[in-house]
Parts: sequence; C-alpha cells; structure tokens
Amino acid sequence: MKQLVIAIDGYSSCGKSTTAKAVASLLHYAYVDTGAMYRAVTLYLLEQGIDFADLGRIEQALREISITFRRHRRTGRNELFLNSVNREDDIRQMRISNSVSEVSVIPMVRHAMVAQQQQMGRKRGVVMDGRDIGTTVFPDAEVKIFMTAEVELRARRRQDELAEKGEHVPLEDIIENLRKRDYLDSTRAESPLRRAADAVLLDTTHITITEQVDFVLDRVSSALFAA
Ligand code: DC
Repeated sequence: MKQLVIAIDGYSSCGKSTTAKAVASLLHYAYVDTGAMYRAVTLYLLEQGIDFADLGRIEQALREISITFRRHRRTGRNELFLNSVNREDDIRQMRISNSVSEVSVIPMVRHAMVAQQQQMGRKRGVVMDGRDIGTTVFPDAEVKIFMTAEVELRARRRQDELAEKGEHVPLEDIIENLRKRDYLDSTRAESPLRRAADAVLLDTTHITITEQVDFVLDRVSSALFAA
C-alpha cells in the first residue's frame, strides 16, 4: 500500500502528539515529534550557557548536537536522545517550555531541524507533528491536519502531564506560557505556525482522543482511496 506523509500541525498542547502517536502505531508508521527536537536544542543551549543571540556559538552547537528517537521496549514510549543520552523527561520541563519559542525562532536552528525532519520522512510512511510540517517540511504531505482547542483546556491537559512527572505548576502560569508560545510561533518570520491552505481543521475542545484518531484515519482512507 502507498506510504503517506501525515502532517499534524497546530497550537501547543491540543493533543497533537497523542493523536499522532496513536495513528502512527495503528498504521505501523514512524512517528516524529518535531517539537521535541526544538526542545532538545533549547536544552543544549541552556546547559552549555550559550546566549540565544550568539549565532556563532549556536552554529557550532548545531554541529555538536545529534538528535534521535528511540522506542522504549517495554512502555512503547517514543523517547528523545540528545547525543545518545535519554533526555525525554528533561525536555518537557517548564524551564524548556519557557525558552523554546525564543530558540525555534532562530532561522539557523529552523533550517537545521527542517533538513533533519525531511531526511527522517524521506521514505514516507511517517506521522509528523509540529507547527510547520504541512507548510514547510512536507508541503506535499497527503494528509494535513491543523489542530486547535480552547486555551484553558489545553492548559489543564498540560498541567496534568507535568503533575504526572512531579512538576506542579499553577494553571495561570501554563496559560500564560501557551499564549506566549502561540503568539511567538504564529508571528515569527521563518515558517510561522499557520494552517496550510489544504489542511483540515480539527478542533479538539469537545472531542475524545478516539474521535481525534478516527478523524485522522478517515482522512488517511480518503487519501489512499484518492491515490
Ligand atoms: O510541540 P511542542 O509544544 O513540544 O513544541 C515546542 C516548541 O517548539 C513550540 O513552542 C514551537 C516549536 N516548534 C516549532 O517551532 N516548529 C515545529 N515544527 C515544532 C515545534
């Protein structure tokens, strides 16, 4: 059967990755969490004490960084490895969420990540979630979804996720972070967050994960049938 690229873009914490992972698993496709890659670069820059305005050091850092994903054998969880070390939990911390939009706005960082993402999806058969997959990384993706949801609901989901990992953050702080990131992601010059003309809108405020997954699978069937 034809192997597709499924692009899932949208605002922070709308359930993109949960949906994308489930779809990838059902179709036996690869899953690439592109937000995790920008988070990994942010973690590296912070740990090395590199100023986000120091483009020379950032260029060097991008050469030093190797980002890979591995599936945990027991839990099936997709985990991010930065220079061969599992940093999945570290990249989800609030300190990274608070800085990642400043890093993902840097054109040099975007070029490096986009090139790597295109390489990861070159054989197709991939579900990729992010902000610019349907517009910049794979403008020829057969299925494009643009996800949105009310900010308070998104913040509650994020709060639960952080609490599960032992990080307790007030709801207002999360709402502020989501609003700030949405604003920065949508207004940056280089591949901003926007809905591709041919992306289907999916508002997840009032629907379950199962319904979200079914919605995407319907689009996949249509794309395969159309092919
Ligand atoms: O999906 P996420 O919240 O983990 O993404 C973290 C940040 O990375 C997000 O605020 C914007 C940025 N990002 C991006 O600019 N382009 C992508 N394709 C994915 C994420």
